[in-house]
Amino acid sequence: MRRFVFLRLLLLLWHVTTSSALPPIEVHGYKFFDNNTGEEFVVRGIDYYPRPNYGDLNHNSLDLFSNQYRHIWERDVVYLQNLKVNVVRLYAVNASQNHDDFMHAMEKAGIYVIVALAHDCPTCAITRDAVPDCYPPELKLQGQRVIRAFRQYNNTLAFSAGNEVNHFAPPNQPEWNAPCQKKFIRDMRKYMVACPGRHIPIGLVSADNERENLAQYYNCYEQDDYDRAEWYGINTYVSCDGAAKTYSDAPGFKLLEESFARLNYSIPVLLTEFGCLSDSFPTIDGYEGQRNFLQGKWLLEEPSLREQFSGGIAFEYSIERENAGQYPFKTFNKQGYGVGYFSPELCDDINVTCEYNPMPSYKALRNVYAESQNVTTIRIEDFQIAASRSGSSHCPTRFDRIDSFVWKADQTPDLVCAAEDETSASIGHQQSVIARETGFTKLSGGNVALVVSSLLILGIGVYYKRWRHETPITSNNGDEDAGPDDSVPFLSLQGFKDNYNSIA
Ligand SMILES: *[C@@H]1O[C@H](CO)[C@@H](O)[C@H](O)[C@H]1NC(C)=O
Ligand SMILES: *[C@@H]1O[C@H](CO)[C@@H](O)[C@H](O)[C@H]1NC(C)=O
Ligand SMILES: *[C@@H]1O[C@H](CO)[C@@H](O)[C@H](O)[C@H]1NC(C)=O
Ligand SMILES: *[C@@H]1O[C@H](CO)[C@@H](O)[C@H](O)[C@H]1NC(C)=O
Ligand SMILES: *[C@@H]1O[C@H](CO)[C@@H](O)[C@H](O)[C@H]1NC(C)=O
Ligand SMILES: *[C@@H]1O[C@H](CO)[C@@H](O)[C@H](O)[C@H]1NC(C)=O
Repeated sequence: MRRFVFLRLLLLLWHVTTSSALPPIEVHGYKFFDNNTGEEFVVRGIDYYPRPNYGDLNHNSLDLFSNQYRHIWERDVVYLQNLKVNVVRLYAVNASQNHDDFMHAMEKAGIYVIVALAHDCPTCAITRDAVPDCYPPELKLQGQRVIRAFRQYNNTLAFSAGNEVNHFAPPNQPEWNAPCQKKFIRDMRKYMVACPGRHIPIGLVSADNERENLAQYYNCYEQDDYDRAEWYGINTYVSCDGAAKTYSDAPGFKLLEESFARLNYSIPVLLTEFGCLSDSFPTIDGYEGQRNFLQGKWLLEEPSLREQFSGGIAFEYSIERENAGQYPFKTFNKQGYGVGYFSPELCDDINVTCEYNPMPSYKALRNVYAESQNVTTIRIEDFQIAASRSGSSHCPTRFDRIDSFVWKADQTPDLVCAAEDETSASIGHQQSVIARETGFTKLSGGNVALVVSSLLILGIGVYYKRWRHETPITSNNGDEDAGPDDSVPFLSLQGFKDNYNSIA
């Protein structure tokens, strides 16, 4: 007990001395706004999965953001800050772990976090089964655990209820499992309002096929407003033309803009993965296919795009050696999405520390984000939602109504809300300590069995793969990206180390 009081004091002190407050962001109409200043919030993000090259952590869908992996994420804070991002998107978290230090480090760096409610395990995300089996009841509890764990942080920007579940349906049949995704969103939104705490918007991320059908479906309601997503993410790999210089050279992007304009879309839309690869991008310092990220510039600066999209999240922070060809990744590879890579080749972040090496595309993205920091934004009091964009979308008829199914999740009791004091960020530290020492706390007796079974279910999900596609699909509406090029020999790392130093 005494030790606990001491810890509590220490943590409170630590919190007071280290926190630099980041105001919450809220959704109003189809835009995000800073709740303190009332200024529009435009996302300049990066998808963040710092997977080491080798060893036990070289897996998809690991939570590398807990206190336990401080040595990994702490290394990256300076690189993220230097990249001028204001958002990172995480693909998987384990709500039983403590994320206080990561979230506070991001806050100090001025970075908000989009947190996935699902991750890759047989019962941890919407599955490939036909509706209604594609929504495992265990997923409901997992989503509620993640909400409970991350709601306390002001810099939790949004929750994502799924990543590309349309890839887990037969081709051109998103209705196969989309009602499961919609029902999961509904359950999570109901949990959000049933429990005290800040309102954090719940949305989802789709792969860019069946573009307009899916966008409409997730912004339409059948019973009431809880059927809708509160924000929409689209992973899109269009207009991969290294020769494009201006927005008029990017027809795929223009079509994307026109799709959402045609829908009179009424919730915020983010490009949750953008920055397609192509060997038409130039070789820089011996690295082939280095993207210029003009896509990010258009997205943030073109008024017509800004009218439809609240910014974007570039894919991705680091190359995953598992997918991306020959170390040190100088040769163009269709999966070489990182704007940096880890060295040495067999680093595992267990026995051998990985070092991050920004590539020329890191510098390009950094410059785009730095230059777009002062883009014109609108203040909430000046923001008039056009009448045509003030409603919801019509539900496409191809999707069955979610109330036409019997859902196993409805027979699973909800997780109890976080204790009142857990909703305050500073006390959140203390709660996490209790949680670590005693398991879950402050739960009424009737819910202990529920929590025990939840933990068992969590235990089943040991094989923990990241829930995203390995090969981004290029939309029919865009330009195809090119295939891998021939190998070039490994040159010295010094070139872009110097390069990085000159921008640092
Ligand atoms: C979170 O935001 C609220 C509202 O702006 C503010 O009062 C509070 O101090 C913030 N909390 C932290 C820990 O920064
Ligand atoms: C901040 O949030 C509060 C509570 O939702 C709301 O009343 C207030 O108008 C918001 N302020 C701004 C500037 O958005
Ligand atoms: C780390 O090193 C230890 C001892 O040298 C070895 O037993 C272990 O297999 C290594 N782990 C990995 C992941 O390489
Ligand atoms: C999540 O963390 C808990 C607590 O450390 C652990 O027991 C569990 O195995 C983890 N779950 C996964 C899927 O890794
Ligand atoms: C969008 O709004 C325009 C103008 O109000 C209207 O003509 C059009 O039918 C709307 N489109 C959809 C898909 O609702
Ligand atoms: C953005 O505005 C700030 C403050 O007005 C200024 O210091 C900075 O140089 C501007 N940055 C760019 C890239 O224009």
